[in-house]
Amino acid sequence: MKVTAIGTGYVGLVTGACLAEMGNHVVCLDVNPEKIRILNDGEIPIHEPGLLEVVRRNVAAGRLQFTTDVDLAVNHGTILFIGVGTPPDEDGSADLQYVLAAARSIGQRMTDYKVIVDKSTVPVGTADKVRAAIADELGKRGLSDMAYAVVSNPEFLKEGAAVEDFMKPDRIIVGSEDEQATLLMRALYAPFTRNHDRLIVMDLRSAEFTKYAANAMLATRISFMNEMALLAEKVGADIEWVRRGIGSDPRIGYSFLYAGAGYGGSCFPKDVKALIHAAQGEGILLRVLTAVEEANERQKILLVDKVVARFGADLKGHHFAIWGLAFKPNTDDMREAPALVIVKELLARGATVAAYDPVAMPEAKRLLADAKGLQFTERAEQALEGADALLLVTEWKEFKSPDFDQIKSSLKQPVVFDGRNQYEPTLMKALGIEHHGIGR
Ligand code: NAD
Ligand code: UDX
Repeated sequence: MKVTAIGTGYVGLVTGACLAEMGNHVVCLDVNPEKIRILNDGEIPIHEPGLLEVVRRNVAAGRLQFTTDVDLAVNHGTILFIGVGTPPDEDGSADLQYVLAAARSIGQRMTDYKVIVDKSTVPVGTADKVRAAIADELGKRGLSDMAYAVVSNPEFLKEGAAVEDFMKPDRIIVGSEDEQATLLMRALYAPFTRNHDRLIVMDLRSAEFTKYAANAMLATRISFMNEMALLAEKVGADIEWVRRGIGSDPRIGYSFLYAGAGYGGSCFPKDVKALIHAAQGEGILLRVLTAVEEANERQKILLVDKVVARFGADLKGHHFAIWGLAFKPNTDDMREAPALVIVKELLARGATVAAYDPVAMPEAKRLLADAKGLQFTERAEQALEGADALLLVTEWKEFKSPDFDQIKSSLKQPVVFDGRNQYEPTLMKALGIEHHGIGR
């Protein structure tokens, strides 16, 4: 099939590359010429395991191309995915300007039947707005009778495992009220549904809602566990044992029960906010989700609270090592990363910081360009030198079994704030390391 991906970010690029991998002919469009230049030079603009290989293989096979040429991109695909950003507006609502601009650019150019697929995470009712924007543009061209369908196909991939998630989805949600479009979507996704049908077709509004409800549920689990961890710490329980104990109940399950330094990323924070805002518009206060968000804000500063409890509120003259800056491992994405809050708060209290991350340092340097008292080190061990304590913020694999002797000898005093519960408290005690975990 001929497919176009409009927006070549985390979602658009993975979607385009993985669809090309199944034999489709895909054009990826972006308004950012620098991204397209990087892709046309044979590189990728993000860190995402396995993606470069898929991109290179399909470019070489002539099935995948990248362009800033809107005419070419719109004319190419029968199925056009809109995968542009939907960042939060000032009031927390999803900003639809990029989605609607993409819709208009389609309406301004299409000359035959197209299936326009909302892949971006968009509020309920957005498909109607996309349809109206296209109709408006077609009307201006005197083409009001031209047939097209708008479909909702939210994306559930996780960064750091995006290719794997796209290739082996738990489910594929298709909101469609157009028979021909449904058939085309079924055919496009047939190679991904494996041994049983994972494609669920529903009405458009339910599909749009499903994405927000899924992210809201996952964020709720994390905030719930973070609050349980706060209490566990006070009453002398270990949240890691509690996690195992409750996760073994199949009604609860083991995933997304890890207490930590708070959730970040480009999705949970903004989607929780957008859902709260959408409900407000309907006169409903989402009490649970409001608390989920508040709990997460508190959680992101928790490591600093622990540092303050240990070293005092005024951190002038203190120096800290930070391991991990990305909002989660295996990505260079820093959007809403807890590390940003932690670094800024330590510096604001007068401390100096040496930070290391395996891949996110270029992005961190860009975002923290004005931060005084912050240095980045080329290797993890260098960050430890002369620091009062180590703060582990992102659980990259290379931090899982560090040289504890080196940690002890490099730090001024052997103190570790373990924001992702990577180290066993009993082992730390045996090694003579003062260990501050989350909820243990
Ligand atoms: P991103 O910021 O990485 O990429 C968006 C891209 O769209 C950018 O490269 C931008 O230049 C481009 N763009 C903007 N307007 C355009 C236009 N009119 N024409 C062509 N290109 C345009 O965003 P992302 O992380 O890929 O997220 C995209 C959407 O997918 C969001 O709604 C997000 O909530 C959702 N989503 C993201 C993830 C994730 O893990 N990142 C997962 C599931 C869903
Ligand atoms: C999320 C959703 O999982 C995905 O389905 C959706 O498409 C996009 O948003 P992503 O943001 O890439 O994916 O990462 P995810 O693995 O969900 O982690 C989000 C945040 O939650 C990270 O900051 C992570 O550290 C945190 N987290 C996750 C926890 O604190 N505890 C957990 O148990 C799991």
